Amino acid sequence: MRLRRRGVADMIRETRLENDDLIYPIIVDDTIKDPTEIVSLPGIFRHTTEAAVSEAANVSELGVPAIILFGVPSYKDETGSSALTGIVQDSIREIKRQIPRLVVIADVCLCEYTSHGHCGLVDQEGYLAVDPTLSVLQRIALSYAEAGVDIVAPSGMIDSMVGAIRTSLDENGFTHVPIMSYSAKYNSKFYGPFREAVQSTYKFGDRSAHQMDPANSDEAIREVALDIEEGADIVMVKPALPYLDIIYRIKTSFEVPVAAYSVSGEYAMLKSAINLQYLDDTVIYETLLSIKRAGADMIITYFAKDIATMLPYI
Ligand code: PBG
Repeated sequence: MRLRRRGVADMIRETRLENDDLIYPIIVDDTIKDPTEIVSLPGIFRHTTEAAVSEAANVSELGVPAIILFGVPSYKDETGSSALTGIVQDSIREIKRQIPRLVVIADVCLCEYTSHGHCGLVDQEGYLAVDPTLSVLQRIALSYAEAGVDIVAPSGMIDSMVGAIRTSLDENGFTHVPIMSYSAKYNSKFYGPFREAVQSTYKFGDRSAHQMDPANSDEAIREVALDIEEGADIVMVKPALPYLDIIYRIKTSFEVPVAAYSVSGEYAMLKSAINLQYLDDTVIYETLLSIKRAGADMIITYFAKDIATMLPYI
C-alpha cells in the first residue's frame, strides 16, 4: 500500500499514545517498613508513604501526569473505619506538597479496609447495606478532598454512590473536585493479583451483586448513563483488554471522557510472558495503543513507567 511507506505512514497514523494518556497506580501500605515487591506483579511494589513520594516523583519525571492511590491499612474492622484517616490521606498530602504538578487521584472504596473484604458495610444477613455504606463513602471522599486530592475515584459500584459523593463534596466547598467513577466494572478474575496485594479477597460471597456480568454490554450503557446523570465527570471501564468493545460503545454513546483501567491481571499476563522472553516488550505499546484506539481518553496502567520510557523510541 502506497501510504504505508516510511514517513507517509507517520502522517496518516490515526491513534497516538502519549504520556498524557497515562495514570500510574501506587499502592501505599501501612503495614510495611520498606517497599515490598508484589510477587504476581513483578516490578510493582507496595510502598510506605515516604517511598510513595519518591515513586511519585519518579513517575512525574518520566512525564506521566497522574497517579491513582490505593491503601492497605494497619487494621481492618467490620466498618472499614481505617479508611477515614490514614495512609492514603497522608500520602495525598505529602505528594501534593512535594510534587504539586502531579495529578493525584484516590480510589474510594471499603474493600481494602473491611475485615470481610466487601466494598461496603454488610448487614446481619451478609447483604450490602447501601445507605450506611454511602455515608461512609461520602466521608472518605471528603477526607481525600481535604487532604488535597485532585480527583476522587469511587470504585465500589454501589447504587447512587456518585450522586452521594457529589452532594457531600459540593456541600463542603469541594465543587472543583471531579469524580472519576468506575462505572462499568466487571466481576473479573483479572483483579486477582491486586486483591492478593491489598489482601482484600472477600471472606464470604462474591462481588457479583454489584459488579457486572462479563456477558453484558447494554448494562454498561445503563450504568454509565446513571453515573453521568448523578454527576460523574469521567467514566471508567474496568478491566480494559477483554472489554475493548465496551470502551468503544461507551465512547461512541456519550460525550464524556472515558478512562480504561488495564488491571493487575492484564499486567501480570504480559509482564510474565515478557520476562520469560516469550513476548517482545513492544507488546506493551501495542496493547495500550489498542485500548486508546478503542476509545479510551486515559489509561490506568502498571506499565505507565515502562511505556513512558519506551515512547520516545517508538
Ligand atoms: C476496589 C478495586 C479493585 C481494583 C481497583 N479498585 C479490586 C476489586 O474490585 O476487587 C483492582 C485493580 C487491579 O486489579 O489492578 N477497591
